[in-house]
Amino acid sequence: MSFEVRTLTSEEMADAAAISAYAFNAPGRHEMTELAERLRRTSQPDWFLGSFEDGEMTAMMCVLPVEMYLNGGTLPFGAVSPVASSPLHRRKGHAAAMLRYSLATMRERGQVISGLSTPHPALYRRYGWEIAADARAYCFKPKDFRSMARPRQRGRFRMLKTTDWQELDPIHRAYAQRHNGPFLRGEGWWRDYVLETPWRPAHDIVVWQSDSGESEGYAVYQQPSTGPDAGKVVVLELVTLSGDAYLNLHLYFAGHDINREILLWASRQDPLPVLLEDAEKLEIKEGFTVMLRVIDFEAAMRWRRAAREDDVCEVVLRIEDELAPWNDGTWRAGIAEGRTHAARVDEEPEIEVSARVLGSLFNGYLRPSVAHESGMVTASNADALDRADRIFAARKAPFFTDHF
Ligand SMILES: CC(C)(COP(=O)(O)OP(=O)(O)OC[C@H]1O[C@@H](n2cnc3c(N)ncnc32)[C@H](O)[C@@H]1OP(=O)(O)O)[C@@H](O)C(=O)NCCC(=O)NCCS
Repeated sequence: MSFEVRTLTSEEMADAAAISAYAFNAPGRHEMTELAERLRRTSQPDWFLGSFEDGEMTAMMCVLPVEMYLNGGTLPFGAVSPVASSPLHRRKGHAAAMLRYSLATMRERGQVISGLSTPHPALYRRYGWEIAADARAYCFKPKDFRSMARPRQRGRFRMLKTTDWQELDPIHRAYAQRHNGPFLRGEGWWRDYVLETPWRPAHDIVVWQSDSGESEGYAVYQQPSTGPDAGKVVVLELVTLSGDAYLNLHLYFAGHDINREILLWASRQDPLPVLLEDAEKLEIKEGFTVMLRVIDFEAAMRWRRAAREDDVCEVVLRIEDELAPWNDGTWRAGIAEGRTHAARVDEEPEIEVSARVLGSLFNGYLRPSVAHESGMVTASNADALDRADRIFAARKAPFFTDHF
């Protein structure tokens, strides 16, 4: 029996689409032409890896090349989506072989970190991805929305179409530069992953402009008529650049008084509970979202911006990374001139961390000192932990607006 993992050719994309469609029970999977066509239109064959047993494709994964914002700059990011094994070949280690293989592939492509969303964290942790972002879902009845603050100006709202991504892009770009997790979006990403996703009901889009005509916020939302969210307004993305945009867009949804509920995704740092007069009527559910893996530590540190432009410090860090030997070893990592950096050294480490926990530290999701308090990082002294906290600091808590 022969077994191999490799990138796919364009002829093999239809088989990959079929494995993925079965695994996620995609609508229309019995007539694959449309799904395979979409895949060909929205991606490149070499974004895909497949495992093959005696020439038959047994599992597939796709790594979308994107860039993620952190501390005002971007990092090349391998967005892993989807991963699927054929039901005929599960639990034979084929997904594992592909995930291991993908680490070197992403490194060759300069994707210095990687992320994915999954209901199976235990699977990906084996290969070094770890939880590194979370989100909250708010649910409230529109008639319960009484605000503790009023906007200074009412401005005006406009509805846009899904083809109007260019009007949203400058607002999103300005927002992304101040946040931790959003992707740098081009037309393809806006259309295929945000506004025209065939697996979701049609989107509505509203933009808010100030009295002087500046576009300062928008929301992408849906009003499903079937399924568990029927009758609700589901706000998928609410992006605001000013307090007035934030207040006006919430008041906009509160005005949807015929809808059963408003369901709104937000970061854990979102202040809606403070804004709502009857805060006890706000239902809040929280959960983890994206898992990260540092693919190439040295390059990732070179790309990464520091939280504070004026801070300078270093720490000697030992990373244990069996699956990515180029990361494994002792590093002098630090911040200077507004960036982070790392170089190999032959010194006694002050901090020791596994590749897996490094994923949570890298984007500021977990502070090294907190990881230490919970036994996930070892440290020779408190000062080293303090320096590590400064090196891996993020200006904002991670929150991914993109669904992938
Ligand atoms: C999840 C999925 C990709 C796993 O594929 P697979 O080829 O069966 O996985 P492997 O055999 O390579 O398993 C690798 C390891 O992960 C473990 N594992 C597999 N699926 C797992 C799961 N759902 N949760 C936790 N661990 C899992 C295996 O037990 C194995 O561990 P071991 O090395 O200690 O034996 C496959 O079941 C699938 O396609 N599911 C439906 C689609 C899906 O959920 N995709 C992932 C969404 S992010």
